[in-house]
Amino acid sequence: MEALYDNYDRKIDYLRISVTDRCNLRCFYCMPEEGITPKPHEEILSYEEIKRFAEAAVATGITKIRLTGGEPLVRRDIVKLVEMLANIPGLNDLSLTTNGILLPHHAEDLKKAGLQRVNVSIDSLDPETYQKLTRLGGVEKALAGVRVALELGFDPVKINTVLIKGVNDDPKDFIRLIHDYPVHVRFIEFMPVGDWNPELYLSIDELKQKLGRYGGFEPVEGPKGAGPAQYATCKGALGTLGFISPISNHFCPSCNRLRLTPDGKLRVCLFSDAEFDVRPILRGNTSEQEIAAFIRTVTESKPERHSAGAQEKPARLMCQIGG
Ligand code: GTP
Ligand code: 5AD
Ligand code: SF4
Repeated sequence: MEALYDNYDRKIDYLRISVTDRCNLRCFYCMPEEGITPKPHEEILSYEEIKRFAEAAVATGITKIRLTGGEPLVRRDIVKLVEMLANIPGLNDLSLTTNGILLPHHAEDLKKAGLQRVNVSIDSLDPETYQKLTRLGGVEKALAGVRVALELGFDPVKINTVLIKGVNDDPKDFIRLIHDYPVHVRFIEFMPVGDWNPELYLSIDELKQKLGRYGGFEPVEGPKGAGPAQYATCKGALGTLGFISPISNHFCPSCNRLRLTPDGKLRVCLFSDAEFDVRPILRGNTSEQEIAAFIRTVTESKPERHSAGAQEKPARLMCQIGG
């Protein structure tokens, strides 16, 4: 089996594929209220093109693929893409990050098609706060998605919560949730992408201080995953809390990923605007070996670490990169 290493000797085995820049929500940090002008259809990679790219990526050493967006479930026939990818020999982790709203409609077909696990983004369990943060959403709908995923046996089911200071930084409701359901709630530091404001940033350490009030959390080994979260749980809980600290304690030394944008740009770091256009290669008469060689060359330009700070943000919005 081939393995892919970058110039800092990091093993790269995780590809995040954003399948659309569209979304049925408008989370304030991700997309403007009026939405964005979506890329025209012909600029978006077709499922056949995504599959060819994924096959070549697996041939280089990628073993895990995550589908993201925008909201991946708004793309037509997404189940078909899952089926096409799930059948690639050598791919052993196929997952999806979603806001959960459309999960009740698609979860069963996704499971049958070979999707293994889902991460659902829910920034608050308070209906009013959720509505304010997403501008369009209803938290009950997102939670219905989580319940369906659990009932169908997706394992693990994770929840992503981006911490916004003074807005959703009391973990009380999420602690209750991990007592009611076997879910893994990961708190994520708000990263400078899109509509970011340093006053809204709360570090994982500050969150842990608040957790101290509720007492009794001990570190535990986390559920299956490819990401950098660290986990803890408390007595009586069915699930865990996870912590992702891209800013206060960045995990770039163990970075394992590449990203493919909906319009076919291969990105080597969430925070780097360096992009490598895959579209001409996929649309030309190129062999799998040539696509694989392209992926290896691009991987060599992964930066050692991100330089995200108050001054530096990617030019694209999160919905255009793929969270
Ligand atoms: P698991 O395999 O389930 O652990 O997934 P994951 O944590 O890699 O994926 P998910 O899409 O749930 O992302 C979780 C969070 O990690 C995202 O919300 C981002 O905030 C953060 N994140 C994801 N990718 C990157 C990255 O390349 N760099 C940094 N700094 N943060 C990232
Ligand atoms: N900082 C941290 N996480 C973010 N996400 C989107 N934008 C940001 C940001 N600025 C998260 C989403 C989703 C995941 C894929 O990325 O909430 O859970
Ligand atoms: Fe949509 Fe997710 Fe972005 Fe929110 S964070 S607007 S749910 S893509």
